[in-house]
Amino acid sequence: MNKVKINKYLRELIPFHGNHFLTGNGYFGVRGTLEEYTKEHMPCINMAGIYDRVGDKWRESVNAPNPLYTYIVSGGKKYSLPDVECESHMQELDIYRGIHMRKTTWRTEQGIVTVTCERFASMANQHAIGMKYSVCTNYDGEVEIVTGIDGDVWDINGPHFTKLLISENDKILSVTGITGEMGISVTAQEKVCTDFDAEISTEKNNKSVFRRIRIKTQKDKIYTIKKTAVISSSVDDNPVIEDIKSADYDKMKNDSINAWEKIWEISKVEIDGDDEAEFALNYSIYHLNCIAPRNLKSKSIAARGLSGQVYKGAVFWDTEMFMIDYYMHTEPEVAKTLLKYRIDTINGARAKADEYGLQGAYYAWESQEGGIEGCSEYNTVDVFTKRPMRTYFRDKQYHVSAAIVYAFMKYINATGDYGILAEGGAETIIECARMYRSLLLKKADGNLYEVHDVVGPDEYHERVNNNAYTNRMIKFCFEKAVEYTEYIKNKYSSYYDKLNEKYDLDKLIPLFKTSAEEILIKQPDENGIIEQFDGYFGLEDASVPEVRARLIDPKEYWGGAYGVAADTQVIKQADVVAMLSMFKDDYSKDIMQKNLEYYEPRTEHGSSLSACMYSLLSCYTGDADAAYPLFMKSASADMAPGGKEWIGLIYIGGTHPASEGGAWIAAVKGFAGLDIIEGKPICRPCLPSHWQGMRFNIIVQGKLYCVNISKDKVDIKIQ
Ligand code: BGC
Repeated sequence: MNKVKINKYLRELIPFHGNHFLTGNGYFGVRGTLEEYTKEHMPCINMAGIYDRVGDKWRESVNAPNPLYTYIVSGGKKYSLPDVECESHMQELDIYRGIHMRKTTWRTEQGIVTVTCERFASMANQHAIGMKYSVCTNYDGEVEIVTGIDGDVWDINGPHFTKLLISENDKILSVTGITGEMGISVTAQEKVCTDFDAEISTEKNNKSVFRRIRIKTQKDKIYTIKKTAVISSSVDDNPVIEDIKSADYDKMKNDSINAWEKIWEISKVEIDGDDEAEFALNYSIYHLNCIAPRNLKSKSIAARGLSGQVYKGAVFWDTEMFMIDYYMHTEPEVAKTLLKYRIDTINGARAKADEYGLQGAYYAWESQEGGIEGCSEYNTVDVFTKRPMRTYFRDKQYHVSAAIVYAFMKYINATGDYGILAEGGAETIIECARMYRSLLLKKADGNLYEVHDVVGPDEYHERVNNNAYTNRMIKFCFEKAVEYTEYIKNKYSSYYDKLNEKYDLDKLIPLFKTSAEEILIKQPDENGIIEQFDGYFGLEDASVPEVRARLIDPKEYWGGAYGVAADTQVIKQADVVAMLSMFKDDYSKDIMQKNLEYYEPRTEHGSSLSACMYSLLSCYTGDADAAYPLFMKSASADMAPGGKEWIGLIYIGGTHPASEGGAWIAAVKGFAGLDIIEGKPICRPCLPSHWQGMRFNIIVQGKLYCVNISKDKVDIKIQ
């Protein structure tokens, strides 16, 4: 299997298919929508790391003018989906070559007209898009192809372009949108080559420009246009290398396919005995490859990848906890870029800490360029009153800073690149530890430091005390701050001296040491269960179906002050289970097993980040068959419709890169049992009973290894 495919047009799945058939190259993502779609059907070319705010609406990422916009006219009538019903429709995505394809037929008054289109976001040149659009009639007649650039783009909280510059110069069409907040320009240019004689005219309106290509068709003859397009912006990291005038579709396509082949040589995972799982996992990897910020400076990945403006195009803890593992073992430079983004945006995190009266760096819950906090205090809308609901994700999800420190640790272990500490990594970690130090509380007669008023990964319980996950991650942060500071003291002494002068490390480090030793870490109770936060066991022990049955409106938010889950033990996503998987060596299999059994039935899995953690922990207990369905859930997050698309009245659809990265983690760290010991990979596999084996490549400390696992053997070879 190498393709996802549909053979029928379903109007109700327009939003889902936009995600399902996405193409992209890290600089932008192209939703898998059809060429004729206008903004109601959510087509978009979503730009990485460019944001804009309109009035007091949410600040969000920007969509470029759309140079793929194309439709046909026959007998004066526009034939386009979903407005005109088609006779047949096929759409597919070749995940190994990064090519999107569609074929649609309509019955016109004269006969059948067939449209075929293939397109790709170039993986070889991040600014380029190619499209080959063909039309064929089963009669002698006339057809028009209307093709150009649509500047009237889909926005959630737009319009972001307050000014649009439209031009036609030497057959090259161009639309530049200029954002209102910062005056950033985003330009789409395109050129079309035809293999037939046609009458061509150009038309403009105040947002768009397009050509009408009038074709006198001969029965069954195929008329093809090849479009090459370039997207650029005024804040690009790299110049546009493709000259639009000389761009050649076929060369562009070959270069892109070759670039994809190189990526797959390292990143493909093979599974013997389960084609469905193999494809779902590689489909997840495809998406991770489409959004990797390759050759970009200081960019990270948004929670919905490049599939649109949902979650404001912002970067969450998702990147560090769920995605970076894949990149650090397949393209370590990408992983480094992700961490550089955090290093380079530390001033945003400092400003946020300051806003809350804390020291150090408190990273944004929804981070935009420069570390700007994109998360609103009112993050959803009450379905009953239609009023914005106060949530505390922005204020209280302190665990985000520790996730970044955890990612530094994973990256350093995987790559051996301690140098990143001297490139700002150590200061980032020290600043995170300073933030946590300013959160610690001790009761008058208490011995241990407590952390109050937090939101853990389970967002349904807000403002709790001593969340097990958060406290453990804070302890980890202190420990790493101590360890890495000692490291730079020995290895990068002049950098250490600079930091010492700034932070008085000789005094600060001992404080971090005692903070790590004296922070309250929740222990298993007499039944082996770790309480998620103070008072959790006292909440109503209702089941997930019971709590779901209490919803009056299906879009109602489960958390917040009076959500249906808030006063029960039902949780949104892995919390204690996430902690156990992060710190697997601290706990026995028995404790892991007991907590899985306790928390799994109480987990709604209302976040796509949840299933992979349960899957991973099940593997650590040796129960691969229990892990398997949760792994499949994670790997299939964008394979089939039906994912959660609403919180309150806010649309949250899009691709799910954390779930995709989590599927890779569950497969490679869970089923294959990968660990890095003294800089080398070792595997202790725990395969599902119907799998015969697994093969994959990983890069560890600069060396490429091929891992070949069968039922009774593990073979790890340097390539
Ligand atoms: C989850 C968060 C996650 C965010 C973005 C929310 O639904 O609860 O943990 O970071 O989605 O994926």
